[in-house]
Amino acid sequence: MRVDIITIFPDYLSPLELSLVGRARDRGIIDVHLHDLRQWASDVHRTVDDAPYGGGPGMVMRPEPWWAALTEVSESGAADGRRPRIIVPTPVGRPFTQGYAGGLAAEPWLVFCCGRYEGIDARVIEAWADDEISLGDYVLAGGEVATLVMVEAVTRLLPGVVGNAESVADDSFANGLLEPPVYTRPPVWHDREVPAVLRSGDHGAIIRWRREVALRRTAQRRPDLLAGTDPAGTDPAGRVAQ
Ligand code: ADE
Repeated sequence: MRVDIITIFPDYLSPLELSLVGRARDRGIIDVHLHDLRQWASDVHRTVDDAPYGGGPGMVMRPEPWWAALTEVSESGAADGRRPRIIVPTPVGRPFTQGYAGGLAAEPWLVFCCGRYEGIDARVIEAWADDEISLGDYVLAGGEVATLVMVEAVTRLLPGVVGNAESVADDSFANGLLEPPVYTRPPVWHDREVPAVLRSGDHGAIIRWRREVALRRTAQRRPDLLAGTDPAGTDPAGRVAQ
């Protein structure tokens, strides 16, 4: 997968060199290109913002550098007949979900446009954006952190990135439930015991326990998710209890 990120703060994206995404890059699973928007600003001061029409606080990102950036970046893949999916992170977008991340993971090429200030001139969004996506109901200083989140969530889903494919299938949200708690050795720590069922070796009982705890946890913490839950007797990864 190719990923292009257009931003006025390329250094903000340096965590993409680390850990899971960094390893996926080293292994050629994703190819990340960072672009400084200011290279497409035409004036000597490399200005990318201007006052909003209609008044109001803050500044708006000018259309000219964005248009030039998106033209050049999308043309850079045109030789192979490819067209990127263009994503604008914004608090006024549709919510980012695991399901949406799964859709992006199937795309060959993504472009993220990181807005700052009050946002990008709406004509750029109308003409170029495939999706406007929000991370949640809060306002960040710009699209960079949202892009980091989305690139990490998508990279985990690419074949070969997470060693055990089951651990991705087991993820919270993969099937509409929050994951149950997890434990490792020792069996007792500071007077707290690992639930006996997990040490019983009874796989059917373990699947049922995980399912029950996942359901209870989801009901308590995220009742909104339960509206779409499959009532069949499966554990959070979809395995049917024996
Ligand atoms: N940019 C600023 N706030 C944002 C949010 N909540 N989600 C995505 N992009 C943003």
